[in-house]
Amino acid sequence: MTRYRIALLPGDGIGTEVIPEGVKVLDALARKHSFEVTCTDHPYSCEYYLAHGVMLPEEGFAELAAHDAILLGAVGDPRLVPDHVSLRGLLVPLRQRFDLYVNLRPARRLKGCPTPLKGDPDFDIAVIRENSEGEYAGAGGRFHAGTPDEVALQTTIFTRKGVERIARYAFELARSRRQRVASATKSNAMQYAYVMWDEVVAEVARGYPDVTLDRYHCDALAAMLIRDPARFDVVVASNLFGDILTDLTGALVGSLGLPASANLDPERRHPSLFEPVHGSAPDIAGKGIANPIATFWAVSLMLEFLGQPAAAAELMAAVERVTAAGRSLTPDLGGKAATTELTAAVLAEL
Ligand code: NAD
Ligand code: IPM
Ligand code: MN
Repeated sequence: MTRYRIALLPGDGIGTEVIPEGVKVLDALARKHSFEVTCTDHPYSCEYYLAHGVMLPEEGFAELAAHDAILLGAVGDPRLVPDHVSLRGLLVPLRQRFDLYVNLRPARRLKGCPTPLKGDPDFDIAVIRENSEGEYAGAGGRFHAGTPDEVALQTTIFTRKGVERIARYAFELARSRRQRVASATKSNAMQYAYVMWDEVVAEVARGYPDVTLDRYHCDALAAMLIRDPARFDVVVASNLFGDILTDLTGALVGSLGLPASANLDPERRHPSLFEPVHGSAPDIAGKGIANPIATFWAVSLMLEFLGQPAAAAELMAAVERVTAAGRSLTPDLGGKAATTELTAAVLAEL
């Protein structure tokens, strides 16, 4: 029987509430589809930082690398640890050290979910966010800190190799979908990095004459995503633009409790990392009302990547039967159910 070793990284806040729910649906699917999963728990979080002085010790990378995939809840508790310390100590280094250069974030209409869009249009968008460099490269520094002469530098790094591989991934994906790629930059205002991005994407596009490339400035794209989401198929964007656009598309789906994120190493040199798009939600943590659907969607993306497409599709179909029926929904979707009640409804559908 095929066996998958999954590293669980619940993290902070509602991360610790939604990951156990994800494991319940994963176990149910394993039984139905005759594969095995062994999950190991990893404590890396802001509480771990307070006890040990690091978010993720050096040996943690090797420990996580010995798995087929990582399922992460959320990282960050600004009351305990500044966000730039916690996130740049755990999530961002995992993406960069494991070279998980594709961040795939699907945004499609889920039946029954309360989209803020007029007329309830149907849409199915795959945002491909560059995940290894760009604005998140971490190059820079602060000088003369705290003095009137203080200087802060934060430098964006785009490499030809980095832009080329993310563009290629986007075009390959579009080929298997509706043959359209929208690329987002701000090459009108920023003349080096985004102009190179535009040039490299155009070069890659020449190898895909069957796929249409539309170029947007990211600000205009944000507006267009709200006015006419149905026109989009694959959207490819840099690290920062992809981050912002996917909270926007998440809100279009109906709640940040819905969308998920697959941090992929397409070459499979390292375990890929699957997570909800949302964070640790300190405002609702501990109340038992976090929406677990983003985690279920992350589990579905993980199963698809691991080679269990039938189980992956079955999970999303079960989720959509629950949302369409409007039963057992959490407060972010207008319901009154607890996290565990929504899980129970999905398990019953499975
Ligand atoms: P957030 O995503 O945690 O919350 C934004 C809003 O969405 C809140 O009102 C929250 O209650 C709601 N929300 C989020 N997930 C929900 C769910 N599953 N069900 C119902 N409602 C949900 O963003 P934030 O408040 O900007 O960040 C909080 C902390 O999380 C910060 O420390 C931030 O750095 C961190 N963060 C981590 C990740 C990650 O680990 N992947 C992602 C984003 C933010
Ligand atoms: C996300 C998050 C992270 C990001 C933060 C928490 C570092 O917002 O995964 O979307 O910006 O990538
Ligand atoms: Mn984000």
